[in-house]
Amino acid sequence: MAKLKIGVFGAGRGMTMVRQLLDNPDAEFVAVCDKHQPTLDNCRKVAEEAGMDKVAYYTNFEDFYNHDMDAVVLANYANEHAPFGIRLLDSGRHIMTECLTCATMKEAVELIEAVERSGKVYTYAENYCYTPVRWEMRERYRRGDIGELMYAEGEYVHDCSSIWPQITYGERDHWRNQDYSTFYCTHSIGPILSMTGLRPVKVSGFETQNRPFMWNLGAAAPCAGMELITLENGAIFKSLHGGFKHNSPQANYQLNGDRGAMKDLANGQIAVYTEGENENCRGKHEIYEPKPIIDASANTGHGGGDYYTTHYFIQSILGNEVARERAIDVYTAVDMCIPGILAYKSICNDNCSIKIPNLRNKEERDAYRNDTFCTYPHIAGDQYVPNNIQGFEPVPDSIYEEVRRRWLAGEPG
Ligand SMILES: NC(=O)c1ccc[n+]([C@@H]2O[C@H](COP(=O)([O-])OP(=O)(O)OC[C@H]3O[C@@H](n4cnc5c(N)ncnc54)[C@H](O)[C@@H]3O)[C@@H](O)[C@H]2O)c1
Repeated sequence: MAKLKIGVFGAGRGMTMVRQLLDNPDAEFVAVCDKHQPTLDNCRKVAEEAGMDKVAYYTNFEDFYNHDMDAVVLANYANEHAPFGIRLLDSGRHIMTECLTCATMKEAVELIEAVERSGKVYTYAENYCYTPVRWEMRERYRRGDIGELMYAEGEYVHDCSSIWPQITYGERDHWRNQDYSTFYCTHSIGPILSMTGLRPVKVSGFETQNRPFMWNLGAAAPCAGMELITLENGAIFKSLHGGFKHNSPQANYQLNGDRGAMKDLANGQIAVYTEGENENCRGKHEIYEPKPIIDASANTGHGGGDYYTTHYFIQSILGNEVARERAIDVYTAVDMCIPGILAYKSICNDNCSIKIPNLRNKEERDAYRNDTFCTYPHIAGDQYVPNNIQGFEPVPDSIYEEVRRRWLAGEPG
């Protein structure tokens, strides 16, 4: 059977997927698009060193779009996946998008409807769900080992200040400079939803005060965010993310049930406490290192999680049922992101509680069809909201000039 022809849109983070396609038994890397020529040149170098001389290189999306491809990985800007993805689905391509799923509630509805209309495969590259420990938490939760979930924590506290020049290039309009405190909620929310299979139904959002050290690097809303979420079974879930200083691991996940608890110890080990029917507080404690589900994932990035997203995308297209069950579909992908959008609405409204719709239900979609609330002017139109409710001063041009200088000189932030 001919290999699947796959294109990659965005060759920064997209290189993670490119590398996995270079010697893939089922898929061929045929085209890549990035408007930044040095980024594209780096991709060409990697592909040619791997002996691939038939890849097409584009700086323009329209030319890339017209290339003969069965499927596309979208690793472009985090707030622009949905519109490009919808065009690709409507042209008959399968897609996998990097984080995040959508920038607005309107896009959430439109993306779901494009997947349904096209009948093509959509998967979401939420790699934090797939480390061996987090997958073990999923297997054991779903087996009932800790009973019914009552409380969960998901944390992704990543201080990116030292690499800010390298990931924002001194661009005022870069999505990382113009986002808001609860936008990048996927790595804290995603794994908990993946482990438990529970849907979020209600959210209140909170944000910290501003961090001058990030404003000094060009972040217009330099604060961290928290979502307090109610899950469909009544459990409560604290999701925390952002980039303040910390001396604990970058990511933290824990599940507390009515018969036990589990925690990712962030060193490759899981801690599990389980108790039986008449064993109150006298149960069993275990600490161990789960093995990866697939050996090939062992040395891939983000604790081994990077392998699975591309692997399950390809295998889902090929009709592998196990892969389809393990890949993240569009409904769950939306559930992993819209709590962050709605949490910012909550923050703008004195932290009020906001219902999270179940967009699987067609009748719940109409209320959001025109909802473009967000902090990105080109997406929000007349529903634009400032990304900083605390009234920080606008960032002067001189800061972006200095960050750009550091990016070009290879200096840290
Ligand atoms: N899951 C993870 O662990 C993880 C890690 C890093 C980044 N990401 C995600 O990957 C995506 C890309 O992030 P990044 O770190 O590479 O930084 P980025 O968002 O700055 O890079 C996007 C790349 O796409 C290119 N691009 C964007 N729009 C384009 C267009 N219209 N035409 C041509 N090229 C275009 C840019 O030139 C750039 O090289 C984001 O969605 C981000 O959230 C995920």
